[in-house]
Formats: sequence, C-alpha cells, structure tokens
Amino acid sequence: MSCKNHKVIMGIETSCDDTAIAIVNSKKDILSNIVINQNTNLSKYGGIVPEIAARDHLANIDYAVQEALELSKCKLEDIDLIAATGGPGLIGGVIVGTVFAKSLAMSLDKPYVAVNHLEGHALTARLTNNIEYPYLLLLVSGGHTQIIAVLEYGKYSRLSSTLDDAAGETFDKAAKILDIGFPGGPMIEKMAMSGDPKSYQLPRPMYKSKNPNFSFSGLKTAFNQTVLKNTLTKNNISNLSASIQKAISDCLVDRTRVALDQFKMMINKNSNVQLVVAGGVASNKYIRNELEKLAFISNTKFHAPPINLCTDNGAMIAWAGYEKYIYEGETNLNFKPRPRWPLDPDAHQKNPIHSKIGKSGVKA
Ligand code: KG4
Ligand code: ZN
Repeated sequence: MSCKNHKVIMGIETSCDDTAIAIVNSKKDILSNIVINQNTNLSKYGGIVPEIAARDHLANIDYAVQEALELSKCKLEDIDLIAATGGPGLIGGVIVGTVFAKSLAMSLDKPYVAVNHLEGHALTARLTNNIEYPYLLLLVSGGHTQIIAVLEYGKYSRLSSTLDDAAGETFDKAAKILDIGFPGGPMIEKMAMSGDPKSYQLPRPMYKSKNPNFSFSGLKTAFNQTVLKNTLTKNNISNLSASIQKAISDCLVDRTRVALDQFKMMINKNSNVQLVVAGGVASNKYIRNELEKLAFISNTKFHAPPINLCTDNGAMIAWAGYEKYIYEGETNLNFKPRPRWPLDPDAHQKNPIHSKIGKSGVKA
C-alpha cells in the first residue's frame, strides 16, 4: 500500500502505560501499529507508577516511531498529519506524547491535532468496522466505564457512567487480590476459562435499576471478603475468576440493556440501531459474547473492534485525529495537556457524584 495515495496520519498514544505509535491512512488502512507495553516493569509494583511510566515513554518513543515508519514503508516526510493524545490520562505520559508530537509537527511543518483519548476509543469502530453514525457506545477501560450516544462527530451524549470504580479497575483489583499479575483483565479471563462462574455468589450492584449507571465498589469488597474465606488453590482461583468475570459481565449487559431503550428513543425511527463496545475490557471474549447475545435479542447490530485495537493503541488516536482535523482543523501549538477531559462536558451536571469540579477541571 503506497503512502501517498491518501492522507497519512501518525497517531501517538502515551496516556497510560503503553507507548503506542501507528501510521494510518485516510482510506482506513492501518499501515503499522506498534505498542510497547510496560507490563513487565509494572507487574513488579502491582500497578502503574505514573513517574516510572512517564520515564519509560520517554525512553521508548523514538524507537516506537522508527519501527512504525519502517513497518509502514513510509518516510517521515510522507506524514500529512500528527495526532497525539492530549488527555485525559496520567499527566507525565501525556506531556511526553504532546511535546514529541508538537516538535515533530513544527520540524516537518505539518498540522498537529490534540486527541481526546476517550474519543480515540469511541471512534475505533469507525476505523476497523467502517460503521456510520449514530451508535450507542459502551466504553469500558481501566479508568472509565460509560455509556455514550455517539450521534455524529463531536456530538456525544453520555447516558451513564460509573459512580465509583471502572470495570477494568475492578478486573485489575480482583487479580491483585488473587495475586495473579497485572494487568488483571487478561489474567482473570485466562484463569476463568477453566472455572465455574456459578461457584461463588457475588453481588451485581445497580442491577435492574432504571438509570443505566454502574457501580463496582461493592462487588470488589464482596470479592475480597470471599477470597479471604478461601484457600487460593489453582482450582479456587479459576472458580473465583470465572465468578467475578460473570458478575462484571452481567452488570455491563444489564446496564447496556437499559441504555439501549433510551438510545432507541433518541435516534430517528428509520436508523439502524447499533451497539459498539470499546476500551480495554472490550477485548474480553466472554463479555463480547454476552453483549452480542443482548444485541441479538434487542434487534441491534453489534460491533466490536479487533481485540488488539480495544486496548490502548496509536491507530485509534490517528483515526480520531483525522476525523477531528476534518471537522475542526488543526490544534493550536499552545494546547496544554489535560489530565481531565470529558467527552461530554455537560454530563457531570446530570450526576451529583461527579458534580464537583476540581483544580484540573471536570472529571472525565
Ligand atoms: O483501554 P485500556 O487499554 O486503557 C485505559 O484507557 O484504561 O484498558 C485497560 C484496562 C485494564 O484495566 C485491563 O485490565 C483491561 O482493560 N483489560 C481487560 C482485558 N484486557 C484488558 N479486562 C478484561 N478482560 C480482558 N481480556
Ligand atoms: Zn484507553
């Protein structure tokens, strides 16, 4: 695939623990997608240490860019647009990516776009599954659990969010309690394969509630108490993993069912109803399958990006950067990295728990 037939976009993602660079073109070809993750380093500490993560981004970013260029068979001069995550996320990492992207854009004299990381996840299915607006998005990652009506580019209406922990955070904490490694989601999924999901009774917070908000802290506490009462044999770890995976999945499906009814009232009666799942937790096969069943009985078309593009990556940032550029043009080089950057800036007003605005702005 030649670089020059279409606009070529470099996507830079450094908001958490992955240093990710991708080259994507405007025809939706992913020419390269390099992800250097810090899992080995981070498992030593049982989680992400922001200062260490930021230093690792700095050490990895040049190499990741070189690899991405080589794989894509593009040269730096072939790049038409440089898109980088500008927030929300761990500020040290976001600064590394933003300064890198601005310097590259200046030296190449090419436009720079600051991308909202959540918008990257939200628009991934447009890149990978070629879907049209509107759709209902279940965004489930390490830091966020939200349901958003994606009506068109830039028109996002949040229907719900978590009142406490995110789904990915719950997977990570469960894995930490079981002492099976970091990040927790993939470890729990692996152990759950040989476990019985009915072996332990765990709560489903907010189950059957009329609004589609989430809550996971009660489930986390109940899981901790259950684990304390048991010896951690391999068999028990598998059963506990299968039980918490099913509890999280049941909550996600139940809340999405409520949101789907609300979404159907928001869109034109003749539009196809589409459900998209995105974010790291969307790579869980059990959860994908359960959501697909919900979509089937709800007369809804279900889309999930390929598993490797659910967790953080540069391709989603390149694509969201391209769409943003089309609608809004380039970002001023005086853009300041944003630790907080909600997709829907008014959503917190509907949710009293999120109504406090701190020094860094509204929580995402
Ligand atoms: O989107 P992501 O890569 O980073 C954030 O933006 O937060 O999501 C990372 C989260 C972690 O909490 C991780 O445990 C979870 O996604 N995750 C999974 C799986 N793979 C990653 N959770 C459940 N099952 C998985 N297979
Ligand atoms: Zn993410």
